[in-house]
Amino acid sequence: MRQFPNARLRRTRQHDWIRRLVRENQPSVNDLIWTMVITDSHELQTPVPSLPNVSRLNIDALIEHAKEAADLGIPAIALFPHIDPKLKDPTAKESLNVDGLVPRAVAAIKAEVPNLGVIVDVALDPYTDHGHDGLMQGEIIENDSTLEVLAETASILAKAGADIVAPSDMMDGRIGAVRKALNSSGISNVPIMSYAAKYASGFYGPYRNAIGTNAALKGDKRTYQMDPLNRDEALHEVALDITEGADMVMVKPGLPYLDIIRDIKNEFSMPTFAFQVSGEYAMIKAAGANGWIDEHKVMMETLGSFKRAGCDGVLTYFARDIAKSLHKGS
Ligand code: PBG
Repeated sequence: MRQFPNARLRRTRQHDWIRRLVRENQPSVNDLIWTMVITDSHELQTPVPSLPNVSRLNIDALIEHAKEAADLGIPAIALFPHIDPKLKDPTAKESLNVDGLVPRAVAAIKAEVPNLGVIVDVALDPYTDHGHDGLMQGEIIENDSTLEVLAETASILAKAGADIVAPSDMMDGRIGAVRKALNSSGISNVPIMSYAAKYASGFYGPYRNAIGTNAALKGDKRTYQMDPLNRDEALHEVALDITEGADMVMVKPGLPYLDIIRDIKNEFSMPTFAFQVSGEYAMIKAAGANGWIDEHKVMMETLGSFKRAGCDGVLTYFARDIAKSLHKGS
């Protein structure tokens, strides 16, 4: 007599309705943070060649995109500035300009689309002529003098109306420095989303092109961003950031680091986010355009993977496409 299995996992996979019934994760529009590149330009939009369907937006175009985000039910957007090369210098002084691009952009969105969350990246690389996230002393990226600039930048952006500040520089002690500056400016209610485990990754290539730092960058970022081969160290980074006053933590890049996301979620039970970075987006776009993968299917699968790994939300250039797709129910 043939032995049949009693346990058959295929029983709950037979129909759409039962697959829906046993589904463990439900990605939704509430999981999305739409990443946008902004610039000062007369042109409304300047396409970024390395990021198909992503443009540098001027403030007018940004407002239109912010309205679209709100209409789609996307909770928040994250802003990344492309700064005029003429304004870059070794001290990142443009990052302290209260009338600079990002403070103006934040104020404009808050005036026009007040219920949309606005997250600002806090780092010096868009503003330094050497493309590093910190001030340089010879060949060294100086930690503690950088903290002072970051803290002041964060206060300026919070005062301009930013809802969340997100330090992405990976200097030691930056969360504490930013938290202290916010407290002493009387804005202790602004959450900090720390780029807690940010790796020295090859996946940022298209972004550096988008914000115009790739040509400028001298050397690499391995003395401050994490070694992609390390796992325990990510937990150490997150622990410090939480102690220093972070409210939400992020892992970056996203898909190659799902193990780190799961570790962090298990260990800290904090609001945990992933950044599906430019290189991840560009790979999916390129393979999709060549007909090698089904772009839509893979895009949705990646969001599901982030949820499965333990993410509360994802920063992604796909946010608009995903939101539209979720609304259509596909
Ligand atoms: C730098 C910063 C980077 C990104 C966001 N903020 C790149 C870097 O560290 O060089 C990458 C975003 C992306 O690749 O989409 N502060």
